[in-house]
This record gives sequence, C-alpha cells and structure tokens, in this order.
Amino acid sequence: MPRRELRDARIIVTGASSGIGAALAEALAARGAKLVVTARREALLQQLAAKIRSAGGAVEYVVGDITDEAVRRAVVDRAISKFGGLDVLVNNAGVGAFGRFDEADPARLRQLFEVDFFAALELTRLALPTLKQGNRPAIVNVGSILGRRALPLASEYCAAKFALRGFSEALRMELAQSGVDVLLVSPGTTDTGFFTSALEMKAKLPWRKEGARQGMTPEATAAAIVVALEKGRSEVIPGVGPKLLALAERFVPGLVDRAMRRYL
Ligand SMILES: NC(=O)c1ccc[n+]([C@@H]2O[C@H](COP(=O)([O-])OP(=O)(O)OC[C@H]3O[C@@H](n4cnc5c(N)ncnc54)[C@H](OP(=O)(O)O)[C@@H]3O)[C@@H](O)[C@H]2O)c1
Repeated sequence: MPRRELRDARIIVTGASSGIGAALAEALAARGAKLVVTARREALLQQLAAKIRSAGGAVEYVVGDITDEAVRRAVVDRAISKFGGLDVLVNNAGVGAFGRFDEADPARLRQLFEVDFFAALELTRLALPTLKQGNRPAIVNVGSILGRRALPLASEYCAAKFALRGFSEALRMELAQSGVDVLLVSPGTTDTGFFTSALEMKAKLPWRKEGARQGMTPEATAAAIVVALEKGRSEVIPGVGPKLLALAERFVPGLVDRAMRRYL
C-alpha cells in the first residue's frame, strides 16, 4: 500500500518543458494526477499538454520565467482555481553554468542562484499555505548529486544545489508536524538538454563523457521520483553511478579530490 496515492493528486511541476520535468509530468499524469506545468518555452508546454490530454489526463500550463514573482503566483493560483488546491509542489526548473570560478562573470552566479535556489524557495513559501490544506502534501526539490559531492568547473551550480539540500533538510523537520513531506532528488547526469541550455559552457568537463548517451534517461529519473513520492521517501538518488559517488564522498572523500585534480 503506497503512503501516497497519486490518483487525483494536484501537482505543480516547474521546468516541465523538457528533460526530467517533462518526463515527470507525463509519468504523474499516467498515474492520474492533475497537473499545473510551467516553463518559458510555450510551444513545448503546449505539446506536452496536448499529449497528456489526448491520453485522458488533466493539465494546465502557465508560461513564464520562474524567477518572476508574478509567474510563481500565477502557477499557484491556477492550481487553486482549476483543481481547488494543491497536494504536491515539484521544484524542478534549473540551469547549469560550467567553467572556472575565477574566470566567470559575477552575473553568472546571480542568475544561476535566482533560478536554481531563490525561485524554488520563494515558490515554496507561496505554495505552503495551500499545500498544508492538501491531501498527503509534499514538496519535491530536484537537486543534484553535485549537491552531495561537488565537482570542479561547476562551482556555482554545486553551491546552489548544496544550498537546496540544506534548505530541504531544515524544511523537512520544520514541516513534520504539519504533515508536509519534503523529498530531495539528487540525480546524476541525465540525458536532457541541460548541458546545451547552460548559462555558460566554458570548459570540457573531466567528469562527463563526450558523445554517446549521457547517463540516465529522463524517463528513468522520473520513474524513480514517482516511486519515492509514493513511498514517502526523504531522498532519492537515481542510478548506480551517483549512488557510488555519494558513498565515495562518505567513506573516502579525499579520493574524489585526488582523481579530479589530475584533470585540471
Ligand atoms: N541533466 C542532468 O544531468 C541533471 C543532473 C542533476 C540534476 N539535474 C537537475 O534536473 C532539473 C531539470 O533539468 P533537466 O536535466 O531536465 O534539464 P532541461 O531539459 O534543460 O530542463 C530544465 C527545465 O528548467 C526550465 N527553466 C530553466 N530556466 C528557467 C527559468 N528561468 N524560468 C522557468 N523555467 C526555467 C526549462 O524550461 P524553459 O527553458 O522552457 O524555461 C526546462 O523546462 C534541474 O534542476 C537540474 O539542475 C539535471
């Protein structure tokens, strides 16, 4: 018996126009959830909504930049006006930036934190009063394995995902009494447009293979999130590689440092 039944659950998914967010929206809709999806690329949201509706699902979309407070408000308002409330908030929208910190513009740091950290926290703040009235409510924060073990040439991104992990852990304890679960997702490399959509790509990443398929499929990552949400887990690390990295960080932290330094 799952801890959380997703049929008819009212769920917001940010960053749903592509990659993990789009795959997650489809997987949740297949479970019978009612969705509000959001991102900036309207055509992709339209396609996603058409696909979900043609399979009999319920979905609304809101187009806009998640760093804009008015957009965040519109997303929560849409869940209330169309579905009468909110049960799950998925903070998935995110961007990367790659290259040495000492060669980066300060604007890169600001912009990355606006999307990956501040927008997620402020949407959470806005959604919480409604979520607390929901059925088996939960907040899902899509972090990264780089929020458990930092790697070079992604310093701002690692910092933002470490920050999101810290926020998730603290919030989980604060909300325990009110029954709102907090699930942290820590994926490793997933085969999405994430690296081509990066704010900057100024380095060849020693920890990323060029060519071929990159890591997990977004569908596999989405499936792991759905199961973790149903089971009421606190964290999910999809895939074997990222789990090994988390273990290495715990038991032999110096090893990863030494391995990475060889490439820099
Ligand atoms: N792919 C990986 O290897 C990997 C690994 C670990 C964690 N993650 C995390 O997984 C999450 C999803 O990434 P992904 O891999 O699925 O990459 P993706 O395909 O590039 O998806 C990113 C999503 O975020 C949205 N987004 C970005 N900036 C936004 C903004 N300012 N306002 C609104 N929406 C915005 C994008 O939509 P629009 O461009 O249409 O706005 C898109 O839907 C991110 O949080 C990422 O950090 C990814």
